[in-house]
Formats: sequence, structure tokens, C-alpha cells
Amino acid sequence: MSGRIDGKVALISGGASGIGLATAERFADEGAKVAVTDINIAKGQELVTELREKGHDALFLELDVVDANSWRAVVGKIQEEWGRLDILLNSAGIGRAHPLLEMTLEEWRQTTSINLDGTFLGTQAAIRAMKDNNGGSIINISSVLGLIGLPNVSAYAASKGGVRLFTKAAAMECAELELNIRVNSVHPGYIETPMVMRRFNKSEEQNAIDIKELGQQHPLGRLGQREEVAGLVLYLASDEASFITGSEFVIDGGYTAK
Ligand SMILES: NC(=O)c1ccc[n+]([C@@H]2O[C@H](COP(=O)([O-])OP(=O)(O)OC[C@H]3O[C@@H](n4cnc5c(N)ncnc54)[C@H](O)[C@@H]3O)[C@@H](O)[C@H]2O)c1
Repeated sequence: MSGRIDGKVALISGGASGIGLATAERFADEGAKVAVTDINIAKGQELVTELREKGHDALFLELDVVDANSWRAVVGKIQEEWGRLDILLNSAGIGRAHPLLEMTLEEWRQTTSINLDGTFLGTQAAIRAMKDNNGGSIINISSVLGLIGLPNVSAYAASKGGVRLFTKAAAMECAELELNIRVNSVHPGYIETPMVMRRFNKSEEQNAIDIKELGQQHPLGRLGQREEVAGLVLYLASDEASFITGSEFVIDGGYTAK
């Protein structure tokens, strides 16, 4: 049985939930060896157990994306275990709303450090490892909020806008150094993951109305599914995307096309 990323070694940050989790499953189904990393140890280990039960090569490693040493240790362990690193998905992130006039510097820094600093540290650690195997693919999850602004999400939008341009600059640097490492960003609209669903905390009836209303803000009339994002990430991770670098991929049911 041959998959679209057969034999490749992938590292996923934020792999215990949502988009990271769906991508870990898809990568494994398509033949990759998958290192699931997260600060949520229980959920990460649970996923890896499931993947192994299906006969996949997978391991869980604890990783807080804001910690440079932790990145070095995780990449080192993957190289020790599987001898290389081919794919990095930077999916770890938080999405907290803070009205601009009330936001503290601490709140601003919490969002920008996890979403943006974490992406920088991961990309740097991965490039250092990918140089050893003559290439690779890095996919950074930004957001539609890395392209447009909305009220109450200035820290999140700043972090995701930063991820967008950091991605392009990193891609240019890898190309200039002839590293054969591609770096691209993915910009989802609202996807039905715990990050989005935890905001619906009213009555069941009210939640159904609110979810429908949020879905209808997308011209396709619904929220996105994490598997849909995983399919795009898989494409960018695979050799099918060999001429794509420094690009931004919007997957939002038309949200930003209006
Ligand atoms: N769900 C959406 O609608 C949506 C839309 C656009 C972009 N995104 C982005 O997609 C990515 C994944 O989001 P999701 O919806 O799957 O969310 P999620 O909450 O389901 O998963 C995020 C994961 O990141 C982990 N995480 C948080 N802080 C971390 C840290 N410091 N170190 C390591 N792991 C950490 C969490 O434990 C969790 O497992 C995020 O970057 C998010 O901003 C999500």
C-alpha cells in the first residue's frame, strides 16, 4: 500500500486536538511516521495509542512551543528514532478574544508568544534538522485573521498576520540558501474544533442557533471541518507541491472572498 507521503517523518505541534489531530491521522494514513507533540500529554498519548493500534508508526513527545530547548530536544529525539525530519506542521495555537482597550500586555504577549514565537522556534529547529536530509516541507497554520481584522482579536490577528509574513520570509531564505525546504501558510476560516466550539457555552438550543449563524458568515453556509484543512496540509507536505513555497492558502468557504 503506498501513501502520498510514504516513509516521510512528520512533526506536528498542537497535535493532540483539532486541526493538528486530524492532520496526524491523515499523515499516518498516507504512510508517514508521525511525532505528535503538545502540552496536553493525556490527549496526545491517547491519539498515539490509537494510531499505533491501527499499525502506524507514531510517538508522542511533550512540547511547549514557546520553549526553544524543548524544540531542540523533540527534534533530536525524532532524529534519533527515525533518522530524519521531512515535514513540520506548526498547528499549536490559542485563540482568545480581548477588547483592545482592556487587553493587558501580558495577554497580548501570551497570544503572540504561542502563535508567533512558537512558529518561529519550530521553523528554525525544523530547518536545522531538514538541512541534514536535503529538504523538507514546513506548513504554518495562520488564519483568515492573518489576512483581515475583526473587533476584539487584535493580538490574535497580529500573531497570525506575523505568521503569514514570517512564512514568506523564511521561504525566501531557504530558497536563497538552496536548502530545498518549502515553507507555506494555511489560512482557515472557522473550523469545527475545540478552539471554536468551546465558545458556544449557552443552552443547547441557543448554541445551535449561534453555530448556524457563524457558519452562515461563510458563503458555503457552514463551518469548516478539520479533515478539510488536513487535506490541504497533506497536499503541501507532499511532493505534489514541489513547486510551491512562500505561498498562502486560504481555506474558508469563501469567508474572505466577499
Ligand atoms: N479552529 C479554527 O476555526 C481555526 C481557524 C483559523 C486558524 N486556526 C488555527 O489552527 C491551529 C489549530 O487550532 P485548532 O482549532 O485545532 O485548536 P485546538 O484548541 O483544537 O488545538 C490546539 C492545540 O494546541 C495546543 N497548544 C496550545 N498551546 C500550546 C503550547 N504552548 N505548546 C504546545 N501546544 C499548545 C493545545 O493543547 C491544543 O491541543 C491554531 O494555530 C489556530 O489558531 C484555527
